[in-house]
Amino acid sequence: MVHRSARERREILRGIRERASGSEPLVRTVRLPDGAGDDLLGYAAAVPAVQALRGDGLDLHPEVTFLVGENGSGKSTLVEAIAVAAGLNPEGGSSQMRMSTRVSHAPLGDHLQLVRGGRRPRTDFFLRAESVFTVATELDRIAEEPYAGDVLGPYGGVSLHELSHGESFLAIAGNRFGGDGFYVLDEPEAALSAQNQLTLLRRIHQLVREGSQFVIATHSPLLLAYPGARILGCDEDGLRELAYDDAPAVALTRSFLAAPERFVDRLLADD
Ligand SMILES: Nc1ncnc2c1ncn2[C@@H]1O[C@H](COP(=O)(O)OP(=O)(O)O)[C@@H](O)[C@H]1O
Ligand SMILES: [Mg+2]
Repeated sequence: MVHRSARERREILRGIRERASGSEPLVRTVRLPDGAGDDLLGYAAAVPAVQALRGDGLDLHPEVTFLVGENGSGKSTLVEAIAVAAGLNPEGGSSQMRMSTRVSHAPLGDHLQLVRGGRRPRTDFFLRAESVFTVATELDRIAEEPYAGDVLGPYGGVSLHELSHGESFLAIAGNRFGGDGFYVLDEPEAALSAQNQLTLLRRIHQLVREGSQFVIATHSPLLLAYPGARILGCDEDGLRELAYDDAPAVALTRSFLAAPERFVDRLLADD
């Protein structure tokens, strides 16, 4: 008889449940194994949200998992490491893209373990708002190579450099993303108007219905409203699950919009 640990048995049972309910994720759990000591993780070892991945690790929602939290709380460190562990380029792009203009990412991604679901992703992409430019440059470069084929076709047929920042972001999500994909996004709202954040929300919904899974770091109350999503707050204590109304970006925006003048008067009042 094969001996299985308690954790393995739990995972097998969970897989059976998920297949029965039709909610099987592409990536089920992100975990930092015991063997990955702090000395191997670079600056990421000092990030509490990273330390929270030890032990049982972090279970991803089969559809959409959001990471929220203050600037510096570790969202980018986490999403980048998840992207790297999934075989994606830390700079952004798909698992086929290998450009490198920056070497500052933490080695965390080389040590994170992804527990995959029973389905394999058909495609994938890591998109950070600030790296749309790098992705666009890399695509133009590949398109110039002999026998490159129709490199820009899957992105809407034009160089992304000819579009605005927000437009190129939506072109990638609208044209290049497809069903059964694993997508990691870092603050996608940074490039997008409120209206286009809603366009992205619709696109996420369409892709989820086609079997895709998302991990998204965000400050956007609009994106966070995705129905049923798992919202995880990163803070000095690690990671904790939050209800939509309790996500700091939502609570603060709500109290601001309830009475903007009063809010700003108070904010700007002399002590
Ligand atoms: N390349 C880096 N080198 C050293 N420290 C870093 C680096 N990138 C981020 N940090 C530090 O790690 C912490 C988490 O940063 P980050 O993941 O970028 O936060 P967030 O995306 O939530 O704003 C911060 O304290 C930040 O200063
Ligand atoms: Mg960040």
